[in-house]
Amino acid sequence: MGFRKDFVWGAATSSYQVEGAAREGGKGRNIWDVFCYTPGKIKDGSNADTACDSYHHVAEDVALMKELGLRAYRFSVDWARVLPEGTGTPNEEGLAYYSRLIDALLSSGITPYLTLYHWELPQALQERGGFLSPDFPDWFAGYAGLVAERFSDRVTHYFTFNEPQCTIGLGLGDGVHAPGLTLSPQETVPAAHHLLLAHGAAVQALRAAAKQPIQIGFAPTSGQPYPLTESPADIEAARRSLFAIPEGRRWYWNVPWFSDPVILGRYPAEGLARLERFLPRGWEQDLAKICQPLDFYGQNIYNGWCVRAGEDKNPVTVDRKPGSARTATGWPVTPKALYWGPRFLYERYQKPLYITENGISRCDWVSLDGKVHDPGRIDFTQRYLRELRRAADEGVDVRGYFHWSLLDNFEWADGYTQRFGMIYVDYETQQRIPKDSFYWYQQVIRTNGASL
Ligand code: FCB
Repeated sequence: MGFRKDFVWGAATSSYQVEGAAREGGKGRNIWDVFCYTPGKIKDGSNADTACDSYHHVAEDVALMKELGLRAYRFSVDWARVLPEGTGTPNEEGLAYYSRLIDALLSSGITPYLTLYHWELPQALQERGGFLSPDFPDWFAGYAGLVAERFSDRVTHYFTFNEPQCTIGLGLGDGVHAPGLTLSPQETVPAAHHLLLAHGAAVQALRAAAKQPIQIGFAPTSGQPYPLTESPADIEAARRSLFAIPEGRRWYWNVPWFSDPVILGRYPAEGLARLERFLPRGWEQDLAKICQPLDFYGQNIYNGWCVRAGEDKNPVTVDRKPGSARTATGWPVTPKALYWGPRFLYERYQKPLYITENGISRCDWVSLDGKVHDPGRIDFTQRYLRELRRAADEGVDVRGYFHWSLLDNFEWADGYTQRFGMIYVDYETQQRIPKDSFYWYQQVIRTNGASL
């Protein structure tokens, strides 16, 4: 058993986090280009004007991917680089950059997995209302059509949205990501509805413009509750926690409000009971537009929390012991999230599954020997991948795994304080140094997981 023979061993990045060249090649500004210049928003006062300068390192970075043995690379397109105003006239120089990247990947035997939206909303569209505008789905479909028209001769795998929970939650609700708004459910619920409609419209636009058969998925996120014991009661408590919807203004931290409409064509009853009054009129008719046939389901999984069944069978969170393992971000190390998450998600959605992100931030530096030793990343990834293998062994249709991240990069509101890469980046010189985990992952890929 173990991983399928054609298992997709990948790594992921996103445009704003790695590209740099923020004011080059005709790129328009996106909401992060603006947000980073708002004092106090980014922990170290930085921005991604240069980041890893991937825009100018295509050949070098793809050569590293080839050395690593990657079968696939998940990257995103900066909407404002290809459509500076979000709609209207395309920017040929921006399109040419992605075209170069795609060609370099293909000539190295690496399959491109293209994400349309990894939080890079054109500022021009933000100024026209962004996700709050009912026109958003049309804008997004126009952009998706352009991407398919230009790239689908070579790109066959697409994701529409990365982590819609964060777009709505961190960006429009909690205010810690661009555009930094703190809206109430009266506005975040319609914004999320527009996002879901945009997903459906983009799937249609991609397929309509595609030059060959393409595959499309969705890449949401969430913590993954796992049961304290494997008793049926604890397992059911964990399952219920995963598909529950939080009360109050931070309702968006959940899976089913986003994934049920997309995959099952309905909003979850528990959420509707509280949130229906905020949905735009006629929302029932929109469900058919949102629920388009998808080829796979993606999920970003970093961690989870332990749950047991209480006396009344309701889920009870089990406190972590003091001193339990944490990453540099402070996120708990919980490998079981990569078994239970896939298992529960597959049970409910019945789609081939990709882990679209998983990884760990560490305080890595260059050692006296000139190398970057990151045993914690190796141990973390090994533990998580063993759990994913268990899911595969038990019949979950896991097709691939994208490690976050290929390169150290700009970690949003945390700036450059977090290093997630299997490749170290010196931001002064743009030197890349593969870390120990790079060579470890190379072995995992080479043996299709047998070395785990
Ligand atoms: C995810 C994001 C990704 C990166 C990782 C650490 O939430 O999708 O861009 O920031 O976390």
